[in-house]
Amino acid sequence: AFKPLVFSGVQPTGNLHLGNYLGAIRKFVALQDEHDCIYCVVDLHAITAQLVHDDMRSQIRSIAAAFIASGIDPKKHIVFNQSAVPQHAELAWIFNCVARIGWMERMTQFKDKASGKNAEQVSLGLLAYPSLMAADILVYRATHVPVGDDQKQHLELTRDIAQKFNIDFGDHIRRTGLGLDIVVGEEPVHAYFPMVEPLIGGPAPRVMSLRDGTKKMSKSDASDLSRINLLDDADTISKKIRKAKTDPDALPSEVDGLKGRPEAENLVGIYAALSDRTKADVLSEFGGQQFSVFKPALVDLAVNVLSPITGEMRRLMDDTTHIDAILRDGGERARARAEKTMQEVRDIIGF
Ligand code: ADP
Ligand code: NA
Repeated sequence: AFKPLVFSGVQPTGNLHLGNYLGAIRKFVALQDEHDCIYCVVDLHAITAQLVHDDMRSQIRSIAAAFIASGIDPKKHIVFNQSAVPQHAELAWIFNCVARIGWMERMTQFKDKASGKNAEQVSLGLLAYPSLMAADILVYRATHVPVGDDQKQHLELTRDIAQKFNIDFGDHIRRTGLGLDIVVGEEPVHAYFPMVEPLIGGPAPRVMSLRDGTKKMSKSDASDLSRINLLDDADTISKKIRKAKTDPDALPSEVDGLKGRPEAENLVGIYAALSDRTKADVLSEFGGQQFSVFKPALVDLAVNVLSPITGEMRRLMDDTTHIDAILRDGGERARARAEKTMQEVRDIIGF
């Protein structure tokens, strides 16, 4: 069977926020004891939406610093940036030929990012993004991917690509003896690439904007008030939570009472995630209370959880030699593993 190997990535595109922390980085930390983990700063993805970044290197360092400040051990596991391992791009090319254009055009993230733009304004890379993401994961033959709920559709596509590769090259895989017997649905399959399992759950799988409970908290939102950045100081966190959009009603005492109240649900979900409790548990404490009581409690909690991470991130970002050495070492170890897969893939294809 495939060894349980975890892969995930975060783009170096600025404003790392609470959604990235709760939806992704915090899960990365939790998985370390039981898994072999590869955590990547996906700089090749960062140029899909915007080509030129004047601060790319410092953005890469800041994501690596966030991983480590949050508790990821770069010695036991691997922390590196994607472009240091050219095998990601090599496998992505092969997957571009495995995948179908229609699969890419159906992705809601592509549709969102491309909406209102014409074909001259959207890079080919933005369309092919999920193919590179599949390569990121499968170049290590990783089986588990902790991400926010926004990435679920891309992970399904990763499974589709793996499955099509396994079927299209089925005879070659058998001939090279490189495949493994796995079960897909009920069907036994002789596969080279595993079927990845998303690790999504938790009380806040999708953290929403503080200004609009129907939009996800995002690095690219024009309003800085919409998100809590991991580098925000306590006063800024306090200001943003106090200004967060809410409704005039008190908090309900049951989770059902959050229906149709996206902003209230979001803040309760954030409180639950930050305190490792369920929403029901949080509401049993705060049900019947006004936001004037709940928001200050949320500020205290958020500052308590985030300020040690912020402090450590800043310290790490000041020592660029140290961060660069971690990335270089991680890149070397990742490259060796990715090259092993690519030698087999080249062999399967017949190159
Ligand atoms: P962004 O979407 O802000 O540009 P990335 O695409 O780099 O961030 O995503 C990094 C990780 O953070 C992914 O695993 C993604 O699922 C997760 N993530 C991003 N935004 C949110 C959110 N609002 N809630 C939960 N998880 C999120
Ligand atoms: Na995202």
